Amino acid sequence: MKFKTFITIFFGMIICQPCAMRAQETPAWAKESVEKREQRMAWWRHDRFGMFIHWGLYALPARHEWVKNHEKISDENYQKYFDRFDPDLFNPKEWAAKAREAGMKYVVITTKHHDGFCLWDSKYTDFKATKTPYGKDLIKPFVEAFRAEGLRIGFYYSLIDWHHPDFTYDYFHPNGPQNSEERKTANANRDIKKYQQYLKDQITEIMTQFGQIDELFLDFSYPGADGKGRNDWDSENLIKLIRKLQPQILIDDRADLNDTDWGWDFKTPEQYMPSEWPTVNGKRVAWETCQTFSGSWGYHRDEQSWKNVRQLLTMLIEVTSKGGNLLLNVGPTARGLFDDRANASLEGMGQWMKYHSRSIYGCTQAPEEFTVPKNCLLTYNPERKRLYIHILEWPIHALRLPAYAGKFKYAQLLNDASEARYKTEDNNIIFDLPLRKPPVEIPVIELFLE
Ligand code: GLC
Repeated sequence: MKFKTFITIFFGMIICQPCAMRAQETPAWAKESVEKREQRMAWWRHDRFGMFIHWGLYALPARHEWVKNHEKISDENYQKYFDRFDPDLFNPKEWAAKAREAGMKYVVITTKHHDGFCLWDSKYTDFKATKTPYGKDLIKPFVEAFRAEGLRIGFYYSLIDWHHPDFTYDYFHPNGPQNSEERKTANANRDIKKYQQYLKDQITEIMTQFGQIDELFLDFSYPGADGKGRNDWDSENLIKLIRKLQPQILIDDRADLNDTDWGWDFKTPEQYMPSEWPTVNGKRVAWETCQTFSGSWGYHRDEQSWKNVRQLLTMLIEVTSKGGNLLLNVGPTARGLFDDRANASLEGMGQWMKYHSRSIYGCTQAPEEFTVPKNCLLTYNPERKRLYIHILEWPIHALRLPAYAGKFKYAQLLNDASEARYKTEDNNIIFDLPLRKPPVEIPVIELFLE
């Protein structure tokens, strides 16, 4: 799809062209020591694996959360979904249990997506869950249920709003004129300043009504002629407000402040795997890739491109092996349930995580002295001094670790803590593995380095 390609290239450019960035001076309110920042990010670097949830009116058409844009649906015609939004089976305790069992440690839910529909009872709009037939706030019970399962809470909030009367028409807006000149005329009665205030008012609500919020995912900027960026959102003041209300929060990089070191906490490669740990000005930075099961973020009934459990696990391991986080998305149905395909994927991941989460939590990229053996991915726990070898293709007996001799004291298979025996040949280690692959999707050897 065209817009997807655009977004992928756009965020790709942000990540791949750090040198092209202008450095902006840090305002006094944003100054923070390196140690303080590290402390703020410690839980996130440890946890590695979160659940993204895209839920809203677009679950009813069930053909992509951008449906209003894709099909140029007018407000009047979109209203039919609002008038029938009634997720009678919504039980956030069930969702939270599924996330925890899959091994996820935090969750990020769409409080508002681009269509402008709000899941909480915002005082600044009527376009919200409490005014639909369902009639209740969805965010409070959601937050309580996930906290009760021990997960940290994150909010996604769309900077874009195709419902607000002061959100000026731009090239993504589904309902404005297609021609740039005509858009200008049509925008004469729209006041972006009023929309900026709306952003601040709503952000204040979600930052003050639900307790501690650990991550905020603002989405997204597309600066340039007929697009929107920091001046449209008043990004600097928005970030200032957020940091005042939730000083410990982690904020993504989509408010168009990428040339600063205070306007974002982590990079967000979307739906692709960076070839290596992303850097800015030559330094490795925190990153979280967001990924779908099948392509669409909102519930998509007919999509057939579902990744299998093995691919999902490989993704989680690969992300960890490059020092990043994985935010994996579920799009619940309009009845309020995770569908069978999502459940099966989560359960499959959970089965593996039950025995292998040790190679994910607290882990990161392995030091360079450890070469990556053939068909393997490495992760490393610097505190416990363990190296994890994820074996993607189970070999016939022998697994060769080049130049590993003398680098570890003991080795075992992680799933059952059974000793993994080996011999040393020159400088190399040759494992003598059982012929039969252990009964897990991706077996792991745990090396005790000390
Ligand atoms: C994109 C899409 C959006 C999705 C988001 C997730 O920006 O516009 O639909 O919510 O990515 O990262």
